[in-house]
Amino acid sequence: MPNANNNRGLWVSRMGFVLAASGSAVGLGNVWKFPYITGQNGGGAFVLVYLACIFAVGLPIMLAEFTLGRKTSLNPVGAFNALKPRSAWVGTGVMGVLAGFLILSFYGVVGGWTLAYVAKSLSAGVTHFDSPRQAGEFFGSFIANSGEIIFYHLIFMGVCVAIVIKGVNNGIEKACDILMPTLVVILLILMIRALTLPGAWEGVRFYLYPDFDKITPQVVLIAMGQAFFSLSLGMGAMLTYGSYLPARENLTAATVYVVLFDTLIALLMGMVIFPAVFAMGLEPAEGPSLVFSVLPAVFSQMPWGGAASVVFFILLSIAAVTSGISLLEVVVAYFVDERGWPRKKAVLVLGGVIFALGVPSGLSFGAWSEFKLMGMTFFDLVDNVASNYLLPVGGMLTAVFVGWVWGAGEAQKEIERHETRFHYAAIWAFLIRYVAPVAVAAVFIAKIF
Ligand code: PHE
Repeated sequence: MPNANNNRGLWVSRMGFVLAASGSAVGLGNVWKFPYITGQNGGGAFVLVYLACIFAVGLPIMLAEFTLGRKTSLNPVGAFNALKPRSAWVGTGVMGVLAGFLILSFYGVVGGWTLAYVAKSLSAGVTHFDSPRQAGEFFGSFIANSGEIIFYHLIFMGVCVAIVIKGVNNGIEKACDILMPTLVVILLILMIRALTLPGAWEGVRFYLYPDFDKITPQVVLIAMGQAFFSLSLGMGAMLTYGSYLPARENLTAATVYVVLFDTLIALLMGMVIFPAVFAMGLEPAEGPSLVFSVLPAVFSQMPWGGAASVVFFILLSIAAVTSGISLLEVVVAYFVDERGWPRKKAVLVLGGVIFALGVPSGLSFGAWSEFKLMGMTFFDLVDNVASNYLLPVGGMLTAVFVGWVWGAGEAQKEIERHETRFHYAAIWAFLIRYVAPVAVAAVFIAKIF
């Protein structure tokens, strides 16, 4: 039986769970981060390494997280504790909660940029650029404006808090229902526009033609971190969502669906951005501002561009919120389950703390842009620590735990509890016991030497 604690809830429908998990996975990671780090790390070769990480490492770990969550009906800390009481394994859960704090702090900032671009599209402020440079400069001066950045970051966090306060089945599930198909449609329209710009094929070539010389241990580390980030893995977000599952859900089907959908959105987004970048003579390695300077330039050059921009940034905001709430939910579930906090108090206090932690990230492109730690701005540092280290290490520990400590056989029993046989159990066990942990460890070792 799922946990009887009244502060918890259950997903109402089966589709609700799949949509909510996709809502967590699909977000700024696909639309904003994937294009810019692909641009910084060499294009096609990076995409190939990324895909390998998604299918060999991400997919098996997602199933492991769903299974741990449904088995225990608990938050990440509670789940490890329940299956291996009083052991150091709770550390994996603690790391996850910490990663949730860190990621949401800068995620909220970028979520705020997206909300701001909804407002700016409505007033036609970002769809009438004469040149792509102008669009880039406009974005540059926007993110340097501390007051505006913090204001929108606050709004973004406020929306996440308001939804998470209502709890999983009322807030999160409903919020995810309509978005996904609409997002695909608008991306397809944008892709057609981008591909028909003169010079677009140079971008397709950059994006799809792998130049293997560009693969270094650092590039592989970033690709792997991005796979974890994009699939919401390695910090217990999918574990927490799995904990609200009734036993009848088919975990394997849900995993495959979420992974394919998330990957599709990221790949489509690349097909929008790179053709446009090359057609407009922009620089693919520009960094976090890439999408926000390229897209408004594309919108400025298309019929109905103003309307398309409004719709696009609204959808992206919703996608960002549905990911943001899953990050907040991990942190909240821990304080509710393990510390006995009332849900409302947990959401308000933790939302406030995360907002405050995000302020220095928000200032990293303006007032604090000169302040560097280990050569990185505060924003880049938090992202780098969380995405490239905490998530892969958390994912590796989860794989070892499920594969060896709890045991792939026990996990298989949980997967098969209410469904027909899991036909790929042997392959999955091999991936979770050997491939996933060894791959992550190998990347870290290669990076060190
Ligand atoms: N997967 C989300 C995205 O791509 C971000 C996220 C990371 C959400 C980790 C939850 C946990 O935007």
